[in-house]
Amino acid sequence: MKALLQLNQIYKVFNEGTPDEKKALDHVNLVLEQGDFVTVIGSNGAGKSTLMNMISGKLIPDLGLVKIDGKDVTTEKEHRRSKLIGRVFQDPMAGTAPSMTIEENLALAYARTRTRGLRSGVSKKTRGFFKEKLEILHLGLENRLEAKVGLLSGGERQALSLLMATFTEPKILLLDEHTAALDPSRAELITNLTKEIVAEFKLTTLMVTHNMEQALELGNRLIMMDKGQIIFQANEGQKQQLTVEKLLEEFQRIRGEKMSNDRAVLI
Ligand SMILES: Nc1ncnc2c1ncn2[C@@H]1O[C@H](COP(=O)(O)OP(=O)(O)OP(=O)(O)O)[C@@H](O)[C@H]1O
Ligand SMILES: [Mg+2]
Repeated sequence: MKALLQLNQIYKVFNEGTPDEKKALDHVNLVLEQGDFVTVIGSNGAGKSTLMNMISGKLIPDLGLVKIDGKDVTTEKEHRRSKLIGRVFQDPMAGTAPSMTIEENLALAYARTRTRGLRSGVSKKTRGFFKEKLEILHLGLENRLEAKVGLLSGGERQALSLLMATFTEPKILLLDEHTAALDPSRAELITNLTKEIVAEFKLTTLMVTHNMEQALELGNRLIMMDKGQIIFQANEGQKQQLTVEKLLEEFQRIRGEKMSNDRAVLI
């Protein structure tokens, strides 16, 4: 198996030297093989989104190395690696342009897949292709190409965002609590779509979720973060043995250990 993503000793401090100083990532190491689907859990402020930002290039680490497909991209700007990475955020408003139609949004995402010839018009052939893709969502959006995206429900927008994020057939898909803002039935729909799309394109995926059941159900690996560190990892075999109770126990045990260590350092 080939390492598709490699994070070596990633370190990031915000507002260094001020009272607001925050160590968001503390020497994080992670290797993803081609086709790995890793769920990421951890409390608020653990560093999960910051980790995603390091991979997408939205943030550059203070120290450490980011490699995608063997290439060092540590200091490469976000737009330079956008073809390699698809991303869906928690906020349904974030991934799409509300004042544009479904078709125009798709055309924009599609243009990113092209190295040149950025054309704004939509040909009959591309329209057919868009309809075909939208049908995968089972939401009837293929009949609403001219509808403004701002009029769609949160669930419909997240489904569209997911589709657009995977249009470029990226090497890595980053999902940051992308079902969190949805009602349970829409969340389930997007979860199922995620499974289908990840399987169809064999995408290497990192998915942040606060839903422990979802974190256990999806993917082949799991990581738990706390205070900027990966404090627990489960591979495929280990993950199958896990339950929500065991995960919570593990979290408390490791946290307790860490706290007693901190205390020892203080004394
Ligand atoms: N741009 C920034 N400037 C200053 N501090 C930041 C910035 N981004 C993140 N932080 C801080 O870094 C820490 C990690 O934040 P991050 O957003 O990665 O957490 P998270 O695990 O995604 O949490 P949540 O589950 O709430 O989304 C937090 O304490 C946060 O306040
Ligand atoms: Mg976050």
